[in-house]
Amino acid sequence: MNTRRLGTTDFELTPIGLGCMQFSNVGAGGSFYAPTAQETVTDIVRTSMESGVNWFDTAEMYGHGHSERALTTALHELGVRPGEVTVATKWPPLGRSARSIGATVQDRIDALQGFPIDLHQIHMPWGSLSPISSQVEAMARLQSEGRIASIGVSSFSAKQMERSRAVLRSHGMSLASNQIQLSLLHREAERNGVLKTAREFGVTLIAFSPLRSGMLTGKFHDEPERLASVKPIRRLIGRFNRKELERTAPLIDELKAVAAAHGVTVSQIALAWLVTFYGDTVVAIPGASRPEQAAESAAAAEIKLSDMELNRLDEVSKSIARNTR
Ligand SMILES: NC(=O)c1ccc[n+]([C@@H]2O[C@H](COP(=O)([O-])OP(=O)(O)OC[C@H]3O[C@@H](n4cnc5c(N)ncnc54)[C@H](OP(=O)(O)O)[C@@H]3O)[C@@H](O)[C@H]2O)c1
Repeated sequence: MNTRRLGTTDFELTPIGLGCMQFSNVGAGGSFYAPTAQETVTDIVRTSMESGVNWFDTAEMYGHGHSERALTTALHELGVRPGEVTVATKWPPLGRSARSIGATVQDRIDALQGFPIDLHQIHMPWGSLSPISSQVEAMARLQSEGRIASIGVSSFSAKQMERSRAVLRSHGMSLASNQIQLSLLHREAERNGVLKTAREFGVTLIAFSPLRSGMLTGKFHDEPERLASVKPIRRLIGRFNRKELERTAPLIDELKAVAAAHGVTVSQIALAWLVTFYGDTVVAIPGASRPEQAAESAAAAEIKLSDMELNRLDEVSKSIARNTR
C-alpha cells in the first residue's frame, strides 16, 4: 500500500488504517459492538498488517483503556516492535480540565505497553471544563517533553482547527490531524469549511465511521432482518432502520454496479472512493469485527476508480447525503 504523510509530521500512513473501537468491550465505546475476544483482536490486527495496514486508531474512551491494551497485546503477540507501526490514541475531555491531559498521559503510556503515542488527539471539542486553547497548550507541553510525538483533534470545526493551529504555531508545532465523520453518506466537511481548512493548513483528515458503521457495506440492504441484531446505540447513531435503508438504496445500487465492474465488494468501493476522491488529505479508519472484514477494507486502498466512477458516486451520494441533516 502506498502512504500519505500525517499532517506535516514524519509519519507515513497507509490510506486505510484500523479503527479499534471494536476492541472496547466495556464502557461507552463498548456499547456499539459485541465484545471482541483477545484471540479475535490478534487475528484482526494480524490480518490488517498482512494486508499492508501500518497504523491503528484507539482511545482511552474505548473501554477505559481496554482497546489500547488489546491492540498492543496483539502487536506484542505478533512480534511487532514499538516504532514499526503508528499508534494514535485520544484523551476524552468529558467533565475534565486541561490539567487531566498531563495527569492521564502515563495511564495511556502504560495501557499502550511500550508502544509510543505517535498521535495524541483531543477526542471531541465539547465537554471539557477548560477552553480548547488550554487543552491544546497541555498537548503542546506533552510534545515538548517528548511524551507524545504529534497532536491531533477530533470533530473540530474549521474555527476550532484554526485556533488550535495558532496555539501550536506559537510553540513552533503543527496540528497533525482532525478526525471527523466522513463517508459517502456523511459529507459535512465539504460544506462546513473543515476540508478547505485542512487543505490550507496541511492537516490530515482521519475519516471515522467510513462505512457509516456498516450501512455502506450493503449487507443491511440485502438482508434487512440483520437490523434486529444491531446494538441500540449503534442503531440510533448509525440510523439503522428500514426508512434509512430505503433512502440510501440508490447509492448502494450504484456502489453495487461499480463493485461488480471491479469484481470487489460494495464496502471496498465505498472506502476506495473515500481515500481517492479527497486526495492525500484524507485517510480512513474502518473498524472490523472479524479478520475477513479487515482484509477486505485494507485491499480497498489498491482499487483504482476511474474519474467517471468517482464522479457518478459523488453525484448519487450528494443527492442523498444532502438530506441527511
Ligand atoms: N473520533 C470519534 O469520535 C470516533 C467516533 C466513531 C468511531 N471512531 C473510530 O472510527 C473507527 C470506525 O468507525 P465505526 O466503527 O463507527 O464504523 P465503520 O468503520 O464505518 O464500520 C465498522 C463496522 O462495519 C462492519 N463491517 C466492516 N467491514 C465490513 C465488511 N467488509 N463486511 C461487512 N461488514 C463490515 C462491522 O460491523 P458488524 O460486523 O458488527 O456489522 C464493523 O465493526 C472506530 O473503530 C474508531 O476507531 C472515532
